[in-house]
Amino acid sequence: MKRHLCADLSLALVLLALGFELSANGAEAKRAGSVITIATARSSLSLLIAKDGRLYELGLGPAGKGSAVPENTPPREMEFYPASGDGFILEPALQATHADGNTSTDLVYQKHSTSALDTNVSLTRIELKDPAYPFLVTLCLKAYAAEDVVEQWAEIRHQEAGPVMLFRFASAGSVLANSGNYWLTHFHGDWADEAQWVEERLTSGIKILDSKIGVRAHQYATPSFLIAMGGEAREEEGEVLGGSLEWSGSFQLAFEVDMKKRLRALGGINPFGSAYQLASGETFTTPAMLWSWSSEGKGRVSRNFHRWARRYGIRDGDKPRPVLLNNWEATGFNFDEKRIVSLFDGAKELGAETFLLDDGWFGNKHPRNDDHAGLGDWQVNTNKLPQGLSFLADEARKRGVHFGIWIEPEMVNPNSDLFEQHPEWAIGQPYREAILGRNQRVLDLSRPEVRDFTWSVIENTLRPNPGISYVKWDCNCYVTQPGSTWLKPEQQSHLLIDYQHALYEVMGRMASKYPGVMAMLCSGGAGRLDYGALKFFHSFWPSDNTDPARRVFIQWGFSHFFPAETIAAHVTRMGRRPLKFALDVGLSGALGLDMDVAKLTPDERRAVADAVSLYKQRLREVVQQGDLYRLESPYSGPRSALNYVSADKARAVLFVYALKDGNQGLVRPRGLEPTRHYRVREVNLPAGVASDLRQEGQVVDGSTLMRDGLQPNCQSSFSSQVIELAGEDVK
Ligand code: DGJ
Repeated sequence: MKRHLCADLSLALVLLALGFELSANGAEAKRAGSVITIATARSSLSLLIAKDGRLYELGLGPAGKGSAVPENTPPREMEFYPASGDGFILEPALQATHADGNTSTDLVYQKHSTSALDTNVSLTRIELKDPAYPFLVTLCLKAYAAEDVVEQWAEIRHQEAGPVMLFRFASAGSVLANSGNYWLTHFHGDWADEAQWVEERLTSGIKILDSKIGVRAHQYATPSFLIAMGGEAREEEGEVLGGSLEWSGSFQLAFEVDMKKRLRALGGINPFGSAYQLASGETFTTPAMLWSWSSEGKGRVSRNFHRWARRYGIRDGDKPRPVLLNNWEATGFNFDEKRIVSLFDGAKELGAETFLLDDGWFGNKHPRNDDHAGLGDWQVNTNKLPQGLSFLADEARKRGVHFGIWIEPEMVNPNSDLFEQHPEWAIGQPYREAILGRNQRVLDLSRPEVRDFTWSVIENTLRPNPGISYVKWDCNCYVTQPGSTWLKPEQQSHLLIDYQHALYEVMGRMASKYPGVMAMLCSGGAGRLDYGALKFFHSFWPSDNTDPARRVFIQWGFSHFFPAETIAAHVTRMGRRPLKFALDVGLSGALGLDMDVAKLTPDERRAVADAVSLYKQRLREVVQQGDLYRLESPYSGPRSALNYVSADKARAVLFVYALKDGNQGLVRPRGLEPTRHYRVREVNLPAGVASDLRQEGQVVDGSTLMRDGLQPNCQSSFSSQVIELAGEDVK
């Protein structure tokens, strides 16, 4: 056995910054036994070019440890991007039928290069080729050093005499050769019950998580997962790999434990019903898979994703998310101009920064008075809002509140002008009765006129109304009859893939043409939630279930991959829980409100306004920009607790939620600076109520706080506490 040691990371970064290509190209690297290393600050992936010319995974682990290079060619099961039909017998990453009908593909190493995109990010491109065909796959791995995240995708192209059929096209696969003790964490759910945590041990064979519904990935499973090696995932210890697919359409994640107890995790677009005919000279680019590996538990993996997201994965990651007041829970479709303007006064009184006008503002011949009509007819309803959207935006501005609007531009109700004029624009199958979802159908974005129309909805809403500063983009129906009147018969199976690309094009246009307009991703709750779509948005709507007792679980689930600033945490009166509990749950995310101020008692108004003010002044920055530590899972006890710590460790805030009755012991914050002194202060207390926290007002060092903990006084169900830990030097 020889040993290969990874290049020292700091030297690597310096060289990359200077524009060097670290890895050899061509002949030198072609030598069997060469190793390609993809390194981040704390992790490294080693790939071997073996004697047979194929690319194998040598190991994934801590940076600098290196991986043993075997004398012999590794078993085919260790291939990094295996193709089917020529000896590989497990779940392949790629399956193609060549122009001459050959159903096998062999991929051998050609060349690779690594280039520095900046001082933090490097891109490695590894080109593989079928020796018998002009068929190439380039594996792309973008390493984000400081965040310990690698983004991986594949580019497939050929110059064969006719089209090649692609039947499988994974973004990435990873082989985790280990003890066979693998634990998969994933998040499933339903409408109003999103992101429910599940952890299970993987046994021999394949476990598949997928979606086949086309236009939104997360219903009923999320394209994100964690794998813990050697036992169940722990928050701060143990080896954990996190993966998240940047794709909002049908996806497939496959976890296969083979005969030697190796695990391969494969992820990509769901090949189900999506065979793709690739013309000569065209490139099929898969969506990217995000990976983050850590030896410090899933807490570190989450913080890696959060830091990556704020810097690279979402819009304006460093910008505070405004406190929104949405009218949906207060009015539903039933409103007019006077009512909406009256809600602006409430928004102002409560301290909300943006008012978001939800569904129901459009449609005239087919007014949008409920969910049976109007989608597609994006003209302001002149009965409800005779003076239009600009009037509303102006009225909001006069009260010091920004104005936002709801849209659902990829959808149509059969009761609409649009459908009357263009029934062929809706996705559906000939000879089948159309199946509606929430009384609507999905527009066929593979058709260029539909793409233009969808863009025109955004353009015609935002251009004439520059007072609109926020958009909520909803999607309440998915595809169950994937047929297009635009695509040729042999291309029908392209529909769901072409749809996503067109959708991203429109979302991307909105983000680049209206950089000042913030946007929330919504899909009948969190039906569409992944980093493919989220890169065009600032936040997402996690669930139509705003009962805070359920939100504790839903927000907990999403926190594994998405930072708090993206998780719209709106306070409503759903569930009739104590208002303080509802507010405390909202304060731990991107706080928003969905309530009619007129229906609140004076005490309630004051409580809400105080919480909003506290959030804006003292908590928002640490919650939205800080590092998350999940302390106590709502799934494993009667209580849930989490804390955030600012990057400079000067501030922290701890949230404790009792979900059942009982004395529940100490809670120990994490992530504090051990030697720093923090003043302990309970916040968001009802007016006139003094804290009964034993350490209230005391100054305690971080190491004592983390070791000895705090004794919260929430012993009855739906009581809660928010405790601020402010570095003594912080005002
Ligand atoms: C579903 C969303 O999740 C809700 O928040 C709301 O916007 C409705 N759609 C409006 O129809």
